Formats: sequence, structure tokens, C-alpha cells
Amino acid sequence: MARVLSCIQPTGEVHLGNYLGALRTWVVGQHEKDVFHGIVDLHALTVVDQPGIVGRNTLELAAMLFAVGLDPDVATVFVQSHVPEHSQLGWIMECTVSYGELSRMTQFKEKAAKREVDFVAAGLFTYPALQAADILLYDADEVPVGEDQRQHVEITRDIAIRFNHRFGDTFRIPRAVHPRAGARVMDLQEPTSKMSKTTSADTGIVFLLDDDATIARKFKRAVTDSDSTVRYDRESKPGVANLLDILSATTGEPVERLVDRYSQYGPLKTDTADAVVALIAPIRDRYNDLLSDRGELARLVRVGNDRAHRVAAATLARAHTAIGLMPST
Ligand code: AMP
Ligand code: TRP
Repeated sequence: MARVLSCIQPTGEVHLGNYLGALRTWVVGQHEKDVFHGIVDLHALTVVDQPGIVGRNTLELAAMLFAVGLDPDVATVFVQSHVPEHSQLGWIMECTVSYGELSRMTQFKEKAAKREVDFVAAGLFTYPALQAADILLYDADEVPVGEDQRQHVEITRDIAIRFNHRFGDTFRIPRAVHPRAGARVMDLQEPTSKMSKTTSADTGIVFLLDDDATIARKFKRAVTDSDSTVRYDRESKPGVANLLDILSATTGEPVERLVDRYSQYGPLKTDTADAVVALIAPIRDRYNDLLSDRGELARLVRVGNDRAHRVAAATLARAHTAIGLMPST
């Protein structure tokens, strides 16, 4: 069975776009392939420098991944910093990639040029080496990533090929694949832009942890248009199309059928809000249960960590042997 590795940084709250666009497809995918989901907290250190934040976000994200339906007995959900082989292989990867190659990474060039942070950590530059370690440790066949991460998977392949050439066949060569497409959710206030925690205002985003009344209010105030017919037209009626897409993604009914059912915006908004609440209220309940039982949450994370650690330790040992480091026993 193909091994798939997806990693997600623990930065901030999960919203409806993340759920319908990505998390929900992960839940389906866990029964089709051998999936590993890493919460890559060490990567978040390139941009976060206050104490406690990354740990709290990691715990909350872990709770959310289980709450949406990842099953620790099926999917391997792990925390990067709990599997020390990531840092260990990361260094070896830094010695297998060149300064020139890292300098050509567009994400680094953009982030450093934008000077979003006053302090440009060296980790921002060497980040692709750690990412290569994340991928190669698990003998991943497939790495589902968006366009912005393709270059990092390419450099991982280059590093793996170079290592195998220098030291003998050690790493499986992974490939970037398109993530299975979920729904694309637009901002409720600016329906021509994607719902996004970096660009949207809170009123345009539905968070998975919003309470029912907040969700209802956000949909009620969703931007539509001054025309008042319900038609699906992403170009000229993006707000209405977004509501129909969300309603369709949450109920499973095709848009063509939904369109005929509504003649006014009010009921469309109410029904969409209700459908979203019905979908995410149980997730919110499971999330809250998990966070109020830290022992159980820690146990679930440990199940994934242990499985990840077994695979990662074997790969790291293979790399050490291939290089010919002095054996420690
Ligand atoms: P981000 O936190 O923006 O990196 O997104 C994490 C995952 O959620 C990625 O797989 C995105 O493709 C997905 N995602 C984020 N925003 C949306 C959105 N508005 N609609 C659909 N998918 C989204
Ligand atoms: N760099 C990725 C991002 O910015 C996160 C990531 C870290 C990752 N390690 C990975 C993605 C390994 C895929 C595979 O989102």
C-alpha cells in the first residue's frame, strides 16, 4: 500500500475552508493508503519565538485532527518534536544539500525579502533540509502538497538521489502529488478571495470552534449581491455561489438540485448555517471532550508517535550505516 506523508504546521485555528478543503479528505484517505500525518512543531519555530505558543497550538491541533475523525489505530498522527529522528536526520540533510540549492528556494527568498519578521532565523533558510528529513524518514511514496510546497519536495528528491549516489541506496524517492480536491471555501465577506486565516477578517471566516450563534450570525451577514435571484454563477454572483457550494459540500446534495429549492437569500443563508452547525457541532464536542481529558489526548498522540518513531528510527539507522558512522554499540 502506498505510504503518504502530509504535514501541517501548528499555527492558529482551524476554519471551515481547512476542514472542507483538506481535513475531511484526510479522514477518507486514511482508509485508502498508509497515511502519516505529522504536526510539524519544529518548523513553526522558524517564525514563533514566544514561550508556550507552539506547544499549545500543537496540543489543540492534535485534538482537532482526532475530533474530525482521524483514527489513531488507522492513521499515524504524530508530533515532530516527539520523534527526535527528525532533528537528527535534518542535520545529515543539511550536509547533503548545498548552500546554492537552499538559496534558490522561492519561499525563503520571499519570506526573507518581505521581512515579515525582524529576525530572519537561519532555520528559515535550512528549513527544506528538515522538511526533507520529515519526508525521507517515512519512506513516503507520495507527498500531497499545494503549489507553494512543490519546490521543497523537488529538493527532497534531489537530496535523496544525491545521498543514495554517495552512500548507496538508502532512501525511497518520494513524489509530490496533488492533494485530493475538497471544496474551495471563499471568505464570507469577500467571496472572491479564499477563506484564509492570514488574509480574512474574523467575520469572513467560520472557525470550527465558533459557537452555533456565531456561525448563524456570520452566515446571516454573508455578502451576497443586490440582485435577489438565487443562481449559481461564480463570476457575477460569487457570494451566492459560495453559499451554494458550502451547502452542497456539507449536505452532499448537488448544487443543481439546491438552486431550484431557493428563491430568496434569507432561507439559503439560514439553511447553510444550519447545515454547517450540524456538521461541525459534533466535531466541536469531541474536540472539547479531548481537551478536557488531557491524559486520553496524550495517549492518542503517543500511539502515533510510537508508530512514527519505529519507522523513523529504522530509517535513521540505515542512513548512519550507509554513511559509515562509528556504531554506538
Ligand atoms: P493553510 O493553513 O492555509 O496552509 O491550509 C491548510 C490546508 O487547508 C491546505 O491543504 C489548504 O489547501 C486547505 N485550505 C485552506 N484554506 C482553504 C479554503 N478557503 N478552501 C479550501 N481549502 C482550504
Ligand atoms: N513546509 C510545509 C508548509 O509550509 C510544512 C511541512 C513540513 C511539510 N514538513 C513537511 C509538508 C513534509 C509536507 C511534507 O506547509
